Amino acid sequence: MNSTTYDRRRGQLEDYFGRTGYEAWARLTADGPVSRIRATVRAGRQEMRDQLLDWLPAQLRGLKVLDAGCGTGALAWAAAARGAEVTAVDLTSSVVRLAQERAPAIAGPGRIEYGVGDMTDASWGSFDYVVAMDSLIHYDTPDMVEAVQRLARRTRCAILFTFAPRTGALAVMHAVGRLFPRGDRAPAIAPVREAHLAALLTAAPGLEEWEMQRSQRVQRGFYTSQAVELVHR
Ligand SMILES: C[S@@+](CC[C@H](N)C(=O)[O-])C[C@H]1O[C@@H](n2cnc3c(N)ncnc32)[C@H](O)[C@@H]1O
Repeated sequence: MNSTTYDRRRGQLEDYFGRTGYEAWARLTADGPVSRIRATVRAGRQEMRDQLLDWLPAQLRGLKVLDAGCGTGALAWAAAARGAEVTAVDLTSSVVRLAQERAPAIAGPGRIEYGVGDMTDASWGSFDYVVAMDSLIHYDTPDMVEAVQRLARRTRCAILFTFAPRTGALAVMHAVGRLFPRGDRAPAIAPVREAHLAALLTAAPGLEEWEMQRSQRVQRGFYTSQAVELVHR
């Protein structure tokens, strides 16, 4: 990992999600009214979350899941409701606090442990599944691939993550996104073509036994993101 670019971007993300964009992010991830543009983002995010959850086994009892960059926690709750032992980690302490405050009671064997820090840190332990929904999209592609390599060392079955697909439509949306007030604006995302990402993952040391299987783009109004399933053979 080029720790300079990774660390710099991570610092910007912590600042955005924890401070400048905190209120906007808290509103987007709650149930109250939002602008029409943000409603499309909310709907797209819901569809993406459902897609990722659908790729996990239906029964997660006894399985360990890392929600890598858990944000306000919706995916972690859904996985725990299916019986998973979830570790929900995010860089941003205020966001993790919000996830804990909002967490519904979980009936059944599932549980969630929350943590503040870097998702790739080995101290979180080992997992059957890692899910990183829209938490790697802001990193330069080589840093994203290296984060996946680091996660793979501690993952038994599959890593599900999203990337921002490089498309013309997305470039237009980013230009429009720059019209938002600065405080509401998320740090830039780093779009990448799927074929390029696949080639980098295939060539990455430590990922020789991993295979990119399903891939699914979600496009709803101002939300575009693509899910990838990386499976340990
Ligand atoms: C766009 S939000 C998505 C949150 C959540 N996965 C969701 O889909 O609702 C990205 C989140 O990733 C977190 N994040 C980014 N880089 C991270 C890192 N290296 N380690 C842990 N969390 C990270 C940010 O703090 C932010 O909360």
